[in-house]
Amino acid sequence: MKFILILASISAVRGAPLPLMPMAQRVAQSQGELKIDSTFAVATSGYSDFRLDAAIKRFLERLQRQTGQALTQSDRPTLAIECRERASDYPSLGEDESYELDVTTSGAKLQARTVTGILRGLETLSQLIGPGPNGWRVPAVKIEDRPRFAWRGLMIDVARHWMPVSVVERNLAGMAAVKLNVFHWHLSDDQGFRVESKRYPRLHQNGSDGNYYSQSEIRQVVAYARDRGIRVIPEFDIPGHTTAWFAGYPELASAPGPYAIEHKWGVFKPAMAPTREETYTFLDNLIGEMAALFPDPYFHIGGDEVEGSQWKNSASIQAFARAHRLAGQGQLHAYFNSRVSKLLKKHGKIMIGWDEVLTDGLSPDTVIQSWRGSPSLAEAAAKGYRSILSSGYYLDHLQPAGLHYAIDPLDGKAGALPPEQAGRILGGEACMWAEYVSAENVDTRVWPRMAAIAERFWSPREVRDTDSMYERLDLVSRWLEWSGLEHRSASRRMLGRIAGGANPEPFRILADASEALGIEGRRHAQQYTSLTPLNRFVDAVPPESEFARHLASDVARLPDAVAEAELRSAFSQWSALEIRIQPGAESSSFAKELLPRARDLSMVGSIGLRALDFLVKRQPASADWLREANLELDRIEKPVGEVNLAGVRPVRLLLARIGPQSVANTSVRCGNEPGCNSTTTVLNWKFQRDGFKITQ
Ligand code: ACM
Repeated sequence: MKFILILASISAVRGAPLPLMPMAQRVAQSQGELKIDSTFAVATSGYSDFRLDAAIKRFLERLQRQTGQALTQSDRPTLAIECRERASDYPSLGEDESYELDVTTSGAKLQARTVTGILRGLETLSQLIGPGPNGWRVPAVKIEDRPRFAWRGLMIDVARHWMPVSVVERNLAGMAAVKLNVFHWHLSDDQGFRVESKRYPRLHQNGSDGNYYSQSEIRQVVAYARDRGIRVIPEFDIPGHTTAWFAGYPELASAPGPYAIEHKWGVFKPAMAPTREETYTFLDNLIGEMAALFPDPYFHIGGDEVEGSQWKNSASIQAFARAHRLAGQGQLHAYFNSRVSKLLKKHGKIMIGWDEVLTDGLSPDTVIQSWRGSPSLAEAAAKGYRSILSSGYYLDHLQPAGLHYAIDPLDGKAGALPPEQAGRILGGEACMWAEYVSAENVDTRVWPRMAAIAERFWSPREVRDTDSMYERLDLVSRWLEWSGLEHRSASRRMLGRIAGGANPEPFRILADASEALGIEGRRHAQQYTSLTPLNRFVDAVPPESEFARHLASDVARLPDAVAEAELRSAFSQWSALEIRIQPGAESSSFAKELLPRARDLSMVGSIGLRALDFLVKRQPASADWLREANLELDRIEKPVGEVNLAGVRPVRLLLARIGPQSVANTSVRCGNEPGCNSTTTVLNWKFQRDGFKITQ
């Protein structure tokens, strides 16, 4: 059998994209395919344990959901799994996650040294299952794979908005599906303390709205993650971001109470008293209790955004600082960290903190999580600390997948470090802060963009072609639904609620052409609190419009007939939207907010239809029409109701193909090319260049 070797080469991937994300290290495709029918069965050899058995069961259950066909009894195994060695039950940093997968027309073989490697390989095989001309199949392929970075994480903030166990678990399933291996659980903040403490029960009782995880639920989630090869790292953010602690234990604060859990967003004054011994006795007991719940050796103490005024205004704290020669807030914070680090060691834990904890005298085994910019990642590594990158991977900004994808932990200063120092950069973590995210829509904010970031963490650095990523992301986004994620269905459900009893279809059309703004666009739009319902259109709309992206590539493919038909169909739907959405908008206040946006999209559709006609009928657009159209799009491009109309983008591209964007920037677009000295000439020149006949 002849193999074509693809060393994760993206140009080769582009020709026939395998629906893999993250892309594997080495992929060699060959002729033929393995049929996947109801007789599919698995056999194991070598080492096996409860984690492996459970993973095979999950794989087979998902296979049945994926294909819609039930499996029957079969004694001829289609998939042979060989796991070579016993490994620890609980996943560990730097463990062997490599695997080899060999699929031929007669069967598949999956081999790995560890059970974790087998888990990763099963996800790859599942991604490869797809429909072919003769039914379900996997293409014949040989894969050798292992991760680039050992630390590949997702942080979810469950303090700002409560995320029940079911939500956490389905996101863990999604993480496993794209080979992530660290779940960073942000469990406490000003707005909530989310874990039951038997030792200090007022933490969860007074420090939450009644929503917290019982200790048995914590154990359940840790076991769920462990079964999927995911480490769970708890974060208890101290000494700032601690208002919720003080609701039940005001004596921990640096200023007298009383305190109540915070409902607003931001950085608040309350901070733990760093100079009272009672603070450390309390932390000693609590860390001891929590350390027993979380088996991972790493324990996150936050450390970010200490506001500082409570420390500055406290006579006793200032007197302590003078007596101990601690100059300013930075050294007080460093003192606090060194005390906490010792407590963590006592309970068998290694400290992780956000980059503010990187101060003189920090224990050398501390891991630094960089959120304020990648230079601190390089600084930490240069000073001998292991570090992980989160700056650039903040999912709450709702930026395009391509933007995150372009950021590499070894970019910039980190990339220039000597190998020994660069080797301390363990990987990265995406962060899902939850000010503007609820349990209902968190999947729509994490997925599918998380899959693109997972590829950045797992795949070779050379895998960085954005077009290929998007092509595969569309496929993987659909596949992720079979792992239980609700990023697609949640959006539809929420739109149905907004439509009320009316036909939800026009709302779906508007949503597909829209993009929700992230934290930067929302924090000043209105006064949000943790009590503000997140049930408006902006909350239902995804961060990135897959539909607008497809239409933009259709524009690039014109005059291709299919591309033209797609564009005409979309623009026609849009142009009819205002009238179609009217009945729903009249009966519901949630829908009423959308009328102006529906009118705008109708306008975009009409401009698009006209522009398409100009292009395909090879007629020139008048400069006046182009100017008017662009002015309309300039207006429509501005966000309304915290939502952008992404549908503007393909129409802009279309206008750019038929003429200059506006008279105002004609000279810029025209430059010094010959025969290019007036608006009309510019139009003529562009049409000639594109091979169109000039009639004007
Ligand atoms: C952070 O974003 N304050 C870690």
